[in-house]
Amino acid sequence: MTDKMLPIQDDAAAPDVLQQRMAERMAQLQEQGLLRQRTVYRAPVNFAANDYLALASSPALADAAMQALQRGVGCGSGASALVSGYQSEHLALEQALCQHTGHEAALLFCSGFSANQALLKTLFQPGDTVLSDKLIHASVIDGAKDAGVTLRRFLHNDADSATRLAAKHRPLALITESVFSMDGDCAPLMALRQIADQQGAWLIVDDAHGFGTPVTFPDIGSQPCDARYADIQLITFGKAMGCQGAALLGSQALIDFMVANCRHYIYSTALSPLAAATALAALTLMQDHRLCQQLAENITYFRQRCAHVGIALTASVTAIQPVIIGDSHRTLAIAQQLRGAGFAVGAIRPPTVPRGSARLRITLNAGHSQAQIDAFITALQQALAAHR
Ligand SMILES: Cc1ncc(COP(=O)(O)O)c(C=O)c1O
Repeated sequence: MTDKMLPIQDDAAAPDVLQQRMAERMAQLQEQGLLRQRTVYRAPVNFAANDYLALASSPALADAAMQALQRGVGCGSGASALVSGYQSEHLALEQALCQHTGHEAALLFCSGFSANQALLKTLFQPGDTVLSDKLIHASVIDGAKDAGVTLRRFLHNDADSATRLAAKHRPLALITESVFSMDGDCAPLMALRQIADQQGAWLIVDDAHGFGTPVTFPDIGSQPCDARYADIQLITFGKAMGCQGAALLGSQALIDFMVANCRHYIYSTALSPLAAATALAALTLMQDHRLCQQLAENITYFRQRCAHVGIALTASVTAIQPVIIGDSHRTLAIAQQLRGAGFAVGAIRPPTVPRGSARLRITLNAGHSQAQIDAFITALQQALAAHR
């Protein structure tokens, strides 16, 4: 660099607007107890994950992945699906998912977030109206924004509210989660199906937290969500299947349309064949109903023990068992004390949940032993008492 090229020291340099903006925002989040930070996960007992069937680090799934690698399945797909990334592992997984759910066709994505966003952005046009539950996942909200859709939200799990809004706004689709990620309660699927039918609208169900787990819907009971109820069903492989990736399931016409028009699918490297092969193995392992049964028993045991020692739970009967704390700082402090005692739980704060409803998001899985649940409940009691 010559003298001439040296940067000029300008005493009156313009302020770094982005730096300042970031610092202000971070200070604000810190003050409100809403700062999100990562910690390397080390707690020996996990009551925070969505690995409901304890498959993520199961020897059986690791073995299946190893076998796939040994028979030459690639770690990476190498290209987008429409170039050369779509391989026999993807096809096999799509077919198995269709067989399992009754849908005609499936399309794989690298995550549930991108699948939801891609679906809304591709299927809808500016000016369309879509109805969703008030507590619908961020990926649906972002997808609706990207599509320029008017998203009207009915009261949480309230079929009457959905009926009123549907009659008023004539939506093209209704969207709900099957099991709500932060509350663990289940949607009135049959009622929403009927409302959609009356309006000639589609019912889209984000089944991220329902697929593979014991569910009890208020109006269809303990049947799994599938093609009978959902015109389009989203499944993520990162929850009960213990893997990574996601699938949209629906009619052949829908999937053909997505393949031809979906920018997330066309311009992105396809899911790795190894991930597809592993997810297929997870789907096979899931067919062993003992896992689901074990999870159901753990949920019941947890709820009974909490009732016995006076820990207030919500009405959720799924693997997601929130303990509502209210205050964000307190929620964090309790979660930190639990972590110190060797237990991971989610400390969920606004804007993920409504203001004033910060909570511990406790999740049960099929691998928890009763001794672990007992020890966790003791630690939870102590942490709640220490941070009243
Ligand atoms: C309801 C719901 N939908 C979609 C997603 C996104 O799925 P993924 O984790 O595969 O991106 C999540 C993840 O948290 C979720 O809770």
